[in-house]
Amino acid sequence: MSPEVKQAVVLVGGKGTRLRPLTDTMPKPILPVLDRPCLSYLIGSMAEAGISEVIMACGYRSDQLTEAIGDGSDLGIEITYSYEDEPRGTGGAIKLVEDRLDEVFVAANGDVFADISLKGQIAAHMRTGAAATIALTEVRDPCEYGIVGMDGTGRIDRFKEKPEPEEAFSNMINAGVYVFDRKVIGDIPADVFHDLSKDLFPLLLERGDRMQGYVLDGTWRDVGRPSDLLGANLVMASKRYGDMIWGGKGIVDSDTRSPFYLGAEARLVGSSATGAVIMAGSRVCDSQVTNSLIMRDCTVDGARIENSIVGDGCTVMPGAVVSNRVLGHGTVFGEGDVGGPEVF
Ligand code: GDD
Ligand code: MG
Repeated sequence: MSPEVKQAVVLVGGKGTRLRPLTDTMPKPILPVLDRPCLSYLIGSMAEAGISEVIMACGYRSDQLTEAIGDGSDLGIEITYSYEDEPRGTGGAIKLVEDRLDEVFVAANGDVFADISLKGQIAAHMRTGAAATIALTEVRDPCEYGIVGMDGTGRIDRFKEKPEPEEAFSNMINAGVYVFDRKVIGDIPADVFHDLSKDLFPLLLERGDRMQGYVLDGTWRDVGRPSDLLGANLVMASKRYGDMIWGGKGIVDSDTRSPFYLGAEARLVGSSATGAVIMAGSRVCDSQVTNSLIMRDCTVDGARIENSIVGDGCTVMPGAVVSNRVLGHGTVFGEGDVGGPEVF
């Protein structure tokens, strides 16, 4: 009988600098998707697949992360935190917790948005007896990722991390969600920096150990850029609330079109919103919001917001136009202001 898979290691030691200014005060895994930390969807997916213990491998102590993700009791699982004195890389972080790991375990990058079903991937791993089974997804521009080539059985026969455009032989990429046999940890040297994609996968391939590809079931986004964070929010608004007719006391004299989401205690008054996620506690009056994310506790009055992200606690004043911008948390933005970096 195949062993049950009960454990997962979540890698959250990186910095996420491309999401500045939003990540200046908030680690990337806890940036919100529909009022929940982005990472909580991945952890929820793990819990749903029967994982009962999640080890968060953190590069440095982050009280914000610990507080936002918690101890797992809300999901009926146990979440613990492992800290590194210095960054060990994605492989080194797993090596550090080797003693605690079972025969087969899940590992995942904590900086991706994933609302997925893991059961199929775990089953494929068991069925093929692979050393590593990698979740795959297709993207238009694969050069920022690890790309994968497979034979007809889904066995991975090529892997190239961050290829140059002329080297990109595939659009199928490593989505950063893995099922590992514990024997691969024996290939990770102790006490040195070790990267799964640059060091472990090439070694397994060279030695002829089976690596299996599994095209993931569900919604996945690499939340590396502001546009990805916006995209994850809009995609989830559509997935969770696509057909819902929004009404109730939060919405007054307003026109909303899907995808749309309004958080708890948020209000939309005399406004139109098309492709908008407005998070808890924000108030939007006499405004137009298109293809944008307004985070928590913002006040937007008489403004136009398009293709933008407005961070927590911002004030957008009458006459302001926020277009293709990210406003850092707590920004006050008035008529004629140009704002932060143009990032879309
Ligand atoms: N604990 C710990 N220690 N975690 C780390 C460390 C470390 O030293 N370095 C990185 N991480 C975490 C990051 O926080 C992130 O969640 C994850 O490991 C992956 O690291 P990134 O630095 O974000 O890698 P990447 O995005 O360039 O590429 C990886 O992810 C892609 C998918 O998003 C690769 O695995 C690619 O092959 C893959 O396509
Ligand atoms: Mg990344």
